[in-house]
Amino acid sequence: MAEFKEISPNASAGEKLLNWVDNRFPASKMYKEHLSEYYAPKNFNFFYFFGSLALLVLVIQIVTGIFLVMHYKPDASLAFGSVEYIMRDVPWGWLIRYMHSTGASAFFIVVYMHMYRGLIYGSYRKPRELVWVFGCAIFLCLMAEAFMGYLLPWGQMSYWGAQVIVNLFAAVPFVGPDLALLIRGDYVVGDATLNRFFSFHVIAVPLVLLGLVVAHIIALHEVGSNNPDGVEIKGPNALKDANGHPLDGVPFHPYYTVHDILGVSGFLLVFSAIIFFAPEFGGYFLEYNNFIPADPLKTPLHIAPVWYFTPFYSMLRAITSEMMYVLIACVLAGAYFGATRANLPKVVRGGVVGAAVFVSLLMLSIDAKFWGVVVMGGAVIILFFLPWLDNCAVKSIRYRPDWHKYMYGVFVVNFIVLAYLGVQPPSAIGERVSQVGTLFYFGFFLLMPIWSRMGATKPVPDRITFKPH
Ligand code: HEM
Repeated sequence: MAEFKEISPNASAGEKLLNWVDNRFPASKMYKEHLSEYYAPKNFNFFYFFGSLALLVLVIQIVTGIFLVMHYKPDASLAFGSVEYIMRDVPWGWLIRYMHSTGASAFFIVVYMHMYRGLIYGSYRKPRELVWVFGCAIFLCLMAEAFMGYLLPWGQMSYWGAQVIVNLFAAVPFVGPDLALLIRGDYVVGDATLNRFFSFHVIAVPLVLLGLVVAHIIALHEVGSNNPDGVEIKGPNALKDANGHPLDGVPFHPYYTVHDILGVSGFLLVFSAIIFFAPEFGGYFLEYNNFIPADPLKTPLHIAPVWYFTPFYSMLRAITSEMMYVLIACVLAGAYFGATRANLPKVVRGGVVGAAVFVSLLMLSIDAKFWGVVVMGGAVIILFFLPWLDNCAVKSIRYRPDWHKYMYGVFVVNFIVLAYLGVQPPSAIGERVSQVGTLFYFGFFLLMPIWSRMGATKPVPDRITFKPH
């Protein structure tokens, strides 16, 4: 137990109250550790807005969600009508609903920018691997949360989108059909599905999400923030002032609280503009087909997920039976080069090649649809391994060889092209492009241990580079 701290009898009532609390709960200690004495590098830039913005959007989603649940009915015969009721009759209901629906897209924009920042500045590397891993788990939860939330308005797109995605699970060998049945709770998407998605969307997933966000920030504060130079300000070799504070750091509060208020203001301007002037955002944030009640007897001509899922959806559609031959060739070539390059005993080499042949046979014998699901899931799972794939001698893009920048540039363009193709109806050319895009996406990560080592890096300064404005 910490020592009981006495306070002067002449102290103000506020100070006495705080002292009373501090003797029972580490309020001041936490404030100091995480805000007033949390030293962050002084060269944070635009990209560093997105962590606090993700927190803001999380709060917006939870608060608006609570108000939506007050009027929403999780019942297949009432759900669509209850959302219309919220939009037309509940005072300010339209605002709450549009904040929540725009918030979903805003969440993904903010989180994609946040992840991109981590990628270019090497924020996932030692000692921040766990910060990144918790982040990836957050991303997975966010995807589950958005997918299940989308079913709730019970519109045509909600219904058919869920139908398509849940049916994918049926492609898993042996257990697939039972698995799909378990997820749906029925032989088709129906009232049982709506009820379980509702329960997961409003309580189960948000609880996990909140826990992960807390873990994410605790892990970050344990090791300290990275920065655009990728230079550690707190390590044993870092420069410190007479009080032991990092010379290149500033206390989070007030410096970054003020910095983040600027980010929040900019964000809220754009966020409100969308809510008030273009809440459907051309059908990208709220799809037009979702203003039609779900009809199990009428399949819409074109079913597409919401934009933030479409890069992964494109990868799913790219895996045709023809594409399987390319994947098999990649597996065999990868095993061959891996086995011959590495200094392995002969029997292990044989084992690697044998395993690759076995996997190839498996790939030939199971339907391509299943491998599409594996590729789609793998595209997210591979992110978890990033800290152990990057072998570059430096963290930040600033000091990597110039061609690395093009590599990251192509990665972003490729991701956007995949996203675009995912909203379009299937086409022969779209299919080819998404196949090439899928290969690039996976190649980027799987070959990173090799390419990240190549090229001459630039000298990293001892201290961060910072020009006051
Ligand atoms: C609900 C979603 C999330 C919230 C609320 C959140 C919150 C934060 C906050 C407040 C910070 C510190 C401020 C900053 O560096 O911007 C941070 C840092 C970080 N986050 Fe997240 N985050 C989320 C999702 C993610 C995801 C999906 C990833 C990656 C997959 C990720 C990876 C990181 C990394 C690597 C850092 C350290 C950055 C650095 O020090 O340079 N986060 N996060």
